[in-house]
Amino acid sequence: MRAWRVHELGDPSKVMSLDEIDQPVPGEGQVLVKVRAAALNFPDVLMAQGLYQEKPPLPYTPGVELCGEIVETGQRVIGGPSRGPGAFAEYALMDADNAWPVPDGMTDEKAAALYLTYQTGYVGLHRRANIQAGDWLLVHAGAGGVGSAAIQLGKAVGAKVIATAGGERKTAICRELGADHVIDYTTEDFVPIVKELTGGRGADIVYDPVGGDVFDKSRKCIAFEGRIVVVGFTSGRIPEAPANHLLVKNYSVVGLHWGLYRTMDPPRIGMVHEELTRLVTDGHIDPLIGETLPLDQAPQALAKLADRSTVGKVVLVP
Ligand SMILES: NC(=O)c1ccc[n+]([C@@H]2O[C@H](COP(=O)([O-])OP(=O)(O)OC[C@H]3O[C@@H](n4cnc5c(N)ncnc54)[C@H](OP(=O)(O)O)[C@@H]3O)[C@@H](O)[C@H]2O)c1
Repeated sequence: MRAWRVHELGDPSKVMSLDEIDQPVPGEGQVLVKVRAAALNFPDVLMAQGLYQEKPPLPYTPGVELCGEIVETGQRVIGGPSRGPGAFAEYALMDADNAWPVPDGMTDEKAAALYLTYQTGYVGLHRRANIQAGDWLLVHAGAGGVGSAAIQLGKAVGAKVIATAGGERKTAICRELGADHVIDYTTEDFVPIVKELTGGRGADIVYDPVGGDVFDKSRKCIAFEGRIVVVGFTSGRIPEAPANHLLVKNYSVVGLHWGLYRTMDPPRIGMVHEELTRLVTDGHIDPLIGETLPLDQAPQALAKLADRSTVGKVVLVP
């Protein structure tokens, strides 16, 4: 079968090759799936660069999220490959107890995008930040994979959503996704705008996949008893939160590592999948697919994700 493999750490558009390798053989508790669509995630870029918390032994096949067809039964499922990455290939192994049914009528591309970013958004907003109807939710990088899911999940629960994004194309997308207010944070300072929109109160929840200066500024417009959810650091800088500032303003900085739920609280993944399926069926969420590309264009697709030029999710189809 054809499978992309990272042979050395570095820029993913340079260190991957499309290799002909043996089909994997399922072990105890695993199923073999024919990959129908695999979605890109920023961690694919970081992992290839050696900058992600997960460091698979080389060579490895990247790709952490897929929609596949179980070879033995023909059932369409979504989830991540067994034991880390492996989705950018024609076949992959999945853990049988972590292969979730595709909601009825959903395309392969959208299904591939319903797992990691939506699970992260749901756990982040509901479990970690206790989101409630009427809350002011500030979503950064709202046109991206993680951000677009968070806008939809925020609206689904009845929050008032403010989204930030870079450039006109992305701010338009945030509006289409249902954000109530949108700020181009590359040209405008979002702090006074958020304060004004919220009547001086600030955002109850900030959902931040960017970090760096964006996190620093978020601390200036977080509400009394607000929660800043630390999702990622696409800006490249890991920020710090002085404890005295948390004390004086009565807010929390909440860490989110969704992958840890697979070991620390496995039943939650199934519960969240059921909720997400219900939200899809009721028309509240609908993954935004920015681009669908053939599997052989994985390096170009990852380069676009790394240089900030993608919107929503980019999906590879073998
Ligand atoms: N905590 C968890 O469990 C978890 C789970 C999944 C993903 N994540 C993290 O969530 C983040 C987003 O992942 P994603 O796959 O959804 O990516 P993405 O949002 O589709 O793409 C990244 C976005 O970040 C923004 N950005 C700001 N500064 C950037 C820079 N210097 N370089 C590149 N992008 C920059 C860009 O939007 P603008 O142009 O609008 O600024 C870009 O579109 C990543 O940090 C990822 O590791 C965390």
